[in-house]
Amino acid sequence: MSSEIAKQAEARRTFAIISHPDAGKTTLTEKLLLLGGAIRMAGQVKAKGENRRAHSDWMKIEQARGISVTTSVMTFEYEGATFNLLDTPGHEDFSEDTYRTLTAVDSAIMVIDAAKGIEAQTRKLFEVCRLRDIPIITFVNKMDREGREVFEILDEVAEALALDTVPMVWPVGGGGTFKGCYDLVREEMIPFTGEDSYGTPVKAELLGDELPNLIPGDLYDTLLEEADLAMDAYPDFDLESYREGHLTPVYFGSALKSFGVKQLLDAVLQFAPAPKAQPAEPREVEPSDSKVSGFVFKVQANMDPKHRDRIAFMRICSGKFKRGMKLHQIGTGKSMSIHNPIMFFAQNRELAEEAWPGDIIGIPNHGTLRVGDSMTEGENIRFSGIPSFAPEILQRVRLDDPLKAKHLSKALESLAEEGVTQVFRPVIGASYIVGVVGQLQLEVLLSRIEQEYGINVGFESAPFVTARWVTSDDAAAMKHFLDRNKGSLADDRDGCPVYMARNHWDMGRIQEDNPKLNFTATRER
Ligand code: G4P
Repeated sequence: MSSEIAKQAEARRTFAIISHPDAGKTTLTEKLLLLGGAIRMAGQVKAKGENRRAHSDWMKIEQARGISVTTSVMTFEYEGATFNLLDTPGHEDFSEDTYRTLTAVDSAIMVIDAAKGIEAQTRKLFEVCRLRDIPIITFVNKMDREGREVFEILDEVAEALALDTVPMVWPVGGGGTFKGCYDLVREEMIPFTGEDSYGTPVKAELLGDELPNLIPGDLYDTLLEEADLAMDAYPDFDLESYREGHLTPVYFGSALKSFGVKQLLDAVLQFAPAPKAQPAEPREVEPSDSKVSGFVFKVQANMDPKHRDRIAFMRICSGKFKRGMKLHQIGTGKSMSIHNPIMFFAQNRELAEEAWPGDIIGIPNHGTLRVGDSMTEGENIRFSGIPSFAPEILQRVRLDDPLKAKHLSKALESLAEEGVTQVFRPVIGASYIVGVVGQLQLEVLLSRIEQEYGINVGFESAPFVTARWVTSDDAAAMKHFLDRNKGSLADDRDGCPVYMARNHWDMGRIQEDNPKLNFTATRER
């Protein structure tokens, strides 16, 4: 059995696309799904009008903003392998959710706009990939538009992210003169015709008479010159180094025109790692382990506003999962039979009869499962590394109707379980403080408390600008600190102490004054 599990795991690629908004992630996703036959017609991922509302606009705010706030999973097949693409919300305010999604992938594609290079959000997401040694394949998009110099883009990636860059193809022209890409490894030309097409490569030695049609003379000379320079300037592709996260192979194309997308997916198939051993306590978990294990990286509540059910997204880390199986929730000791696990195929959901390491299943539940939970067939294994991030905005929750205090506490707790917000209970004082990573997250929170729980609340500024989790090996120093700083302390929802600073200077001072304490911006669950 375990060889079958290993074989199935080996045939899986679980990945995400990271990018700055507008770089072309949605367009690329669409084209990848088309290539995998998961959708028949382009335009469905970001369908507009009625279609779009029917599928994903289950939240008012989503309609108003026209953005996707849900992290979905899309599964498709290509060349005998199963690809699980975890869609990460592109809006910068949803970073916490996005970061957590990255804990469930084995690799990532980084999409860059050829005209803009590395942008703020790309850099942030990249940092998380680096923390987790997630290997990255780079796709420079929008080559059909005027962009920056190719060397400039490659050097920017190398410098900004401290990564070796290895161009795998070399673009010929750009913008109006974009003629395609020369594959430096396979030594073939993939002509760009301007049509929407994945492109048909032509072997270099066969180019002969066709050449002038494909590449006008001056561009051909430039290509020879640049390709030569590139060979000297950049290292050779090294699979180990890519998988360790030190090097990124770079592809160029136009997602809008499907161009270069096949080369990119082929690269994911060929180079990107299959599910590997996952960090856990007390031992790492190998995908080929015969027993099923996994962790919840996202919980989505109220997908159907009429029902208070939630979907917990679980990544399978080992074993062969079968529908109906009983799994134990580590920590609470509860067990649950998973009768209706869901798999996500583009816009469709289907019951998952079985799932393998690397797959993501959705588990409907009534609030039992939380982000960060480990599930196993019985062994006491806890997956590590799913972070909470220090909030950048802290607000006090003002309740209009004091009789609803209990309701509010429930609502906040379940929204915190989903990772929509962080909830802090100040050591002194009665009202909750919510922490979010961005302003939009606050609006989502407000709208959901009103819509889904029927409670009218407002937010008031709290006198704090940032928060840090406090830990220490020195119990006496910890106690001393907790006793002396009650006015600035709160408990997070797991009861862990958090120091809330009134300004950045205060944060610095408190750290200096308490060398035996650790103040961290993330906390692993
Ligand atoms: P995102 O998910 O990363 O935010 O980006 P998205 O795919 O929505 O693309 C952002 C805009 O860039 C879209 O145009 C899209 O059509 C365009 N785009 C994506 N890839 C390419 C490409 O390879 N070449 C060119 N020229 N454009 C590209 P829009 O006008 O903002 O949206 P829409 O009305 O076309 O949907």
